[in-house]
Amino acid sequence: MNDFHSLPADFTWGVATAAYQIEGAVAEDGRSPSIWDTFSHTPGRIDNNDNGDVACDHYHRRSEDIELMKQLGVDAYRFSVAWPRVVPGGDGPVNDKGLAFYDELVDDLLEAGITPFPTLYHWDLPQVLQDRGGWPARETAEHFAAYAAVVAERLGDRVKDWTTLNEPLCSSWIGHLEGRMAPGLTDITAAVRTSYHLHLGHGLATQAIRAAVPGARVGIVNNITTCEPATERAEDVAAAVRADGHTNRWWLDPIHGRGYPQDMVDLYGVDLPTRSGDLDTIAAPLDWLGVNYYFRNVVTDDPTGPLPQAKQVYLPGARHTAMDWEVNADGLENILLRLTEDYGPEMIYVTENGSAYPDVVRADHSVDDPERSQYLDEHLAACVRATRRGVPLAGYFAWSLLDNFEWAYGYEKRFGLVHVDYPTQRRTIKTSGHHYADIVRSARRRGRRAA
Ligand code: GCO
Repeated sequence: MNDFHSLPADFTWGVATAAYQIEGAVAEDGRSPSIWDTFSHTPGRIDNNDNGDVACDHYHRRSEDIELMKQLGVDAYRFSVAWPRVVPGGDGPVNDKGLAFYDELVDDLLEAGITPFPTLYHWDLPQVLQDRGGWPARETAEHFAAYAAVVAERLGDRVKDWTTLNEPLCSSWIGHLEGRMAPGLTDITAAVRTSYHLHLGHGLATQAIRAAVPGARVGIVNNITTCEPATERAEDVAAAVRADGHTNRWWLDPIHGRGYPQDMVDLYGVDLPTRSGDLDTIAAPLDWLGVNYYFRNVVTDDPTGPLPQAKQVYLPGARHTAMDWEVNADGLENILLRLTEDYGPEMIYVTENGSAYPDVVRADHSVDDPERSQYLDEHLAACVRATRRGVPLAGYFAWSLLDNFEWAYGYEKRFGLVHVDYPTQRRTIKTSGHHYADIVRSARRRGRRAA
């Protein structure tokens, strides 16, 4: 018997997706190419040379997918708005057909009793802005705020929960330093400038949302995790501190008014493109923090490796998902506690948590995925433990509603509670999806009795 009912009675139970990973229709109704269209069409960048041209065809199957959310019984749907649909030129004219898709999505969600929980940027920068300098250029932050204002003004009468950015770490370090995500650069200066201007864009967009939406609840989503030394060697302990700076403090300190951590500024050796007032803008007060958690970091010193010279070690004997990510729910509890103790946020959402496993589809199209259900149970139990230790956890979004385009891994890695047969676009709720629905139903029922 789980004790998920001990989560707050008003706990938000959700599912999450992202535009480029599920929508398809990449050239429809005025959408312009994003850096992910460019990246996924560059040979060798994506496994099996997959791309997001069709993905889950969500753009045409919105109603069917909302019906699936109703079957799962979720309260909220975390999705992202595609900037290239709404402002195809990156700045300037609004594409009303593109904006209309999200307007209708919001109405359909509300009609279904599901709270819309939009993210304004989940990595799909309009390519035209990349061509003008991308996130290393300050103007991109300003264009992002203008785009945020457009969306907030259009949806703000019905949408109160707003996320500016999803995982700026990935856009910066993986996209501009490691080169494994769009735009595929390997340049520490571009990466640091990107991180700074993403933060600046976050702060400016927060102002724009608050100006357009009275009572807006604004947050940012980061993929943070515990960073632990593989051994007690001084070199590994120091590597864990660098990994913590790279993964956590660089992303959490500035938005909490502490500026950029000096040890990491020194390590990166890049002058921040600071202008007067920027750090105050970046530290715009937030209503909640989002945590995307999948695995913990256990690192060893890697002096000749890429920054932060801390190599993730594979832990023999541990359980791993199909991503080779260790299954470690204690890491979620620990990072939630650390966030609460070190930064004191008003509210926290687990905005992504889930697992990829190789799904076997039976003749009747059903998918039995006990490992994914177990992963859910273990990490929700960690959420319960965290709330009992004072973490202000307001909700949990399972990643993901649907199997979808898993970035550089393409379609081979499946995270969905719902199986997608891509050739036919047939959706089938997996046993983990039914399990999640049971959890939500019973937690809500018992939570109400306890309230
Ligand atoms: C991320 C992104 C998601 C991923 C998911 C699985 O956290 O990387 O937000 O788009 O698909 O996390 O990797």
